[in-house]
Amino acid sequence: MKTTRTLAAMAWVLVMTTFPAQLFSQANDAYSRADSLLKMMTLPEKIGQLNQYNDDWNATGPVTVDPGKAEQVKNGEVGSLLNCVTVQRTRKWQSVAMQSRLKIPLLFGQDVIHGYKTTFPIPLGESCSWDPDAIERSERVAADEASAAGIHWTFAPMVDIARDPRWGRVMEGSGEDPYLGSLIAAARVRGLQGKKLGGTNSLMACAKHFAAYGAAIGGRDYNSVDMSDRLLREIYLPPFKAAVDAGVATLMTSFNDINGVPSTGNRELLTQILRKEWGFTGFVVSDWGSVGEMINHGNVSNDYEAALSAINAGCDMDMESRCYRNNLEKLVKEGKVDIFAIDEAVRRILEKKFELGLFDDPYRFCNEERERKALSNPEHPAMAREMARKSIVLLKNENHLLPLSPTLKNIAVIGPMVKAVNQNKGFWDVNVPGVDSNFVVTWWQGISARVSRETTLHYAHGCDFEGTSRAGFEEVVAIAKQADVVLFTMGERRDMSGEARSRSDIGIPGVQEELLELLLKTGKPVVVLISAGRPLVFKYTAEHAPAILYTWWLGSEAGNAIADVLFGDYNPSAKFTMTFPRSVGQIPINYSHFNTGRPARNDSDRVYRSAYTDLSIYPQYEFGYGLSYTSFGYSNLEVNRKQFRKNEVIDIHVTISNTGAFDGEEIAQLYVRDLVGSVSRPVSELKDFAKVFLRKGESTTVTFHLDAAKLSFYDQHAQLVSEPGFFDVMVGASSRDIRLQERVEMVK
Ligand code: NOJ
Repeated sequence: MKTTRTLAAMAWVLVMTTFPAQLFSQANDAYSRADSLLKMMTLPEKIGQLNQYNDDWNATGPVTVDPGKAEQVKNGEVGSLLNCVTVQRTRKWQSVAMQSRLKIPLLFGQDVIHGYKTTFPIPLGESCSWDPDAIERSERVAADEASAAGIHWTFAPMVDIARDPRWGRVMEGSGEDPYLGSLIAAARVRGLQGKKLGGTNSLMACAKHFAAYGAAIGGRDYNSVDMSDRLLREIYLPPFKAAVDAGVATLMTSFNDINGVPSTGNRELLTQILRKEWGFTGFVVSDWGSVGEMINHGNVSNDYEAALSAINAGCDMDMESRCYRNNLEKLVKEGKVDIFAIDEAVRRILEKKFELGLFDDPYRFCNEERERKALSNPEHPAMAREMARKSIVLLKNENHLLPLSPTLKNIAVIGPMVKAVNQNKGFWDVNVPGVDSNFVVTWWQGISARVSRETTLHYAHGCDFEGTSRAGFEEVVAIAKQADVVLFTMGERRDMSGEARSRSDIGIPGVQEELLELLLKTGKPVVVLISAGRPLVFKYTAEHAPAILYTWWLGSEAGNAIADVLFGDYNPSAKFTMTFPRSVGQIPINYSHFNTGRPARNDSDRVYRSAYTDLSIYPQYEFGYGLSYTSFGYSNLEVNRKQFRKNEVIDIHVTISNTGAFDGEEIAQLYVRDLVGSVSRPVSELKDFAKVFLRKGESTTVTFHLDAAKLSFYDQHAQLVSEPGFFDVMVGASSRDIRLQERVEMVK
């Protein structure tokens, strides 16, 4: 008996050590496969899976020079690489991993934030479409291209709620509102991951940055966050929860601390909330170096303690800090870290590798032919164009200056954006090796292609985004004088918003507004187009320009989308998802604020009121603001029940009519105010919306839904409650432009 057992054990060891990990891919589900592989792994191999390095051709954080990477991959000491793109390069690295003892494939992660080769508008721009379905389709395109280029995993979506436009990373998210932000977060996850991980055109998504990164004090990137549990749970966590519910495979920790505890070492967040309350089963990656940065935060004194804090908190993978690599083995041997914690982290990562099918074929995302086809798929630019025109917000249109006739004789096209190429790609474009920028349609190209043969376009650069040179001013004025209409492009450069691009002055930089003043003095009608990655402050332009379009950075089809809107082939429908302040001093400002004990009621009643004495109480443009070439009327608000119980749903019907001269889309918005709560409630909260297309003269009825879940909130003890009482239900074209309202009551 004993001999039989010994023989069986010897045979098991032989199998385990002779055959590669692929053998175990024949086991049933990913969990069991990961589990059986785990049993074969040595401690250094396990720790290797928790280690992620940057590939050397590009860097999106502070670089650590490490000539030993290839050797470490060969030894099974690395689980993942980031910034490694193209079939050629990922294949090369994967083949190094295949020389390791267990042949565990590498995961290739990349910031595919708004497209891979086909660049989409920056996410904040896309969010202004209020169109989760279109956003999902744009992410499908991104996933299709990136996965064809060898990438398995994107560090997107960024679902951080952002309420301070000084913060450069507002461009990466969906703005200030948790309700809309949650819908978009889920749509992005669905789009990136496809129906299920394991398809060759699915990417693993990564909801980031967990958590509250967008609440950095003063909008200064990487800064601390100080907030109540209530605010965290009510405003900042819901988009993460929505991503988890949509099946997101991974989360990334944030750089900041929350109330003195860095997110990367925050067990309350990473284990209690994420795993225990929400049931998340994927894995968590740190942000770049954030395990080691806990030393700078002052929470640990060295990288040994940093590794201890992060692994015990629930951070599974260490991006670039090397704290895990250098310390985990010692920590386990000294009994400070339970091997169970390591096994759990490794299993979660292996499970995803199994789900992606990498054990069946480590090169299944490495097909040059597919890469070539995906990157030249003609449907992709079409999607980028759709998304770009849906992201452009019309702010002003005096005397119906827009749309323009394409048969105008002379159009002056002026400003730093007109012939710019890479500016259109925004901050987080992927610099794909071997793909040049010719696929970007510049504004000049887009407009040239749309105007009639009889039209002459006159171009002048005018001035740069930044700087004080006025050398081009004279030429510009001369050109403008010959034109029937002047198109003036201005804004900020694409590297002025994004990671580490916080700014204390968010006015229009340089001499651009000065040039606008000169153009307006010519008496010609001027259309201003503003490119930016954040809400900018532009009081002069807002007050004096007759027509304004806010165009963000629109991606590879920018020029075509701009032409579509300028010449009326597309009627703008987008609405802002962040409040635009009148001045930096008005920040923080968001629509969903509290009333206070001394609320300002209007602009002429500011004394002894919660207001700035030198500034209007209103923002420049409010959340939900955006115009159309047509106009919309709201009528017949009907509520199916004015009193409702907690288990009942209220239906709110409203008739929307297109009362203007163009076909167009309206985004009708439902806001609620809870009049009395055990804790103060905001003056207005978005609870539903409907985007409807109406031909001119047409009307339709839209129905919004409200229930106790939507009306619930976190009380003083951070417990989710729904309290009976009265609620104002408000329907309008923006958070300020409320057209109809009704009071309803929740009864016990
Ligand atoms: C740091 C950024 O905060 C994060 O969003 C990004 O994914 C990583 N760098 C990797 O580039």
